[in-house]
Amino acid sequence: MSRILSGIQPSGALHLGNYFGMMQPAIALQERGEAFYFIADYHALTSVQNAARLREFTHGVALDFLACGLNPARACFFRQSDVPQVTELAWILSNVTPVPMLQNAHSYKDKTARGLPASAGLFTYPVLMAADILLYDSDLVPVGRDQKQHLEMTRDIAGKINELYGADLLKLPAPVIQETTAVVPGLDGQKMSKSYGNTIEIFLEEKALRKKVLGLKTDSTPLEAPKLTEDSTILALYRLVASPAEVEKMENEFRTGGVGYGEFKHRLFAAIWEYFAPMRARRAELLADAGAVERVLRAGAERARTVADSTLARVRKAVGLR
Ligand code: TYM
Repeated sequence: MSRILSGIQPSGALHLGNYFGMMQPAIALQERGEAFYFIADYHALTSVQNAARLREFTHGVALDFLACGLNPARACFFRQSDVPQVTELAWILSNVTPVPMLQNAHSYKDKTARGLPASAGLFTYPVLMAADILLYDSDLVPVGRDQKQHLEMTRDIAGKINELYGADLLKLPAPVIQETTAVVPGLDGQKMSKSYGNTIEIFLEEKALRKKVLGLKTDSTPLEAPKLTEDSTILALYRLVASPAEVEKMENEFRTGGVGYGEFKHRLFAAIWEYFAPMRARRAELLADAGAVERVLRAGAERARTVADSTLARVRKAVGLR
């Protein structure tokens, strides 16, 4: 049975990019193998440096993921820092990781280019991510396109370890990237991302959600004129949440003209609101049970630790740490 693993940073509230890029595929895959999903709170320390906020985000992300359909009876769901074994594996891996490879990481270059101070944590972020994946002998890693390079680095690092210490020591994982949702656009048409400030959060209140969606950037084509369907952010998002018939209708109206962007945005808002209605109901149920999220995370950590201990024992022995 294949092992599926993925992680998500608690660096803010979850948005449609997270949902369609990773959570929805991960939730679908939990039925098809042995899944390990975690909240990457060690990784979030690279950007969230306030204890209360980190705790609040971690709890919020766990709650939202469960509300969206992660089934703890199928998937092992845990907090990354509850399995500190991963940091030991990261240290071991860092010794076969070439510095130029890390200097080449898109996410590192992107963040430092935007003025984020270059901490050692941010720099070695991909090594910790490789440890996350390799510690659980993962076969498949569902992610959005922005994580592709991190998966390549993970494979490189695992390959180096195996070359040095034994061909079968670590399993080489494969990314699972769905073409249609690999890059979900944000309000300004760029990739939806917390760091670009263009996100649509999944569990916004109705008024706030409507306001955000109506603020989506469009060109100045007048109401009566035909509009371009390619590269339309409204359509790209609508395709994710509306029925095929609704999408076809909107595409036709784009082509013929006569309907303005304002109306399209109202429809987009309504479709998003409706799409997430069952998740909102489930979230309200979870909220009513104060200890529910913590119970799930603790049970998940216990199971994850068993797998982690066994991989780490294998690696320690292979590299000569006893
Ligand atoms: P993070 O927390 O930035 O994002 C979580 C997941 O959401 C996907 N995603 C998107 N997909 C499509 N379109 C978008 N606009 C969009 N925005 C976000 C991301 O690709 C990701 O899959 N480094 C990881 C967390 C991590 C991890 C791991 C993942 C740590 N260890 C081990 C897999 C395996 C990250 O920062 O994701």
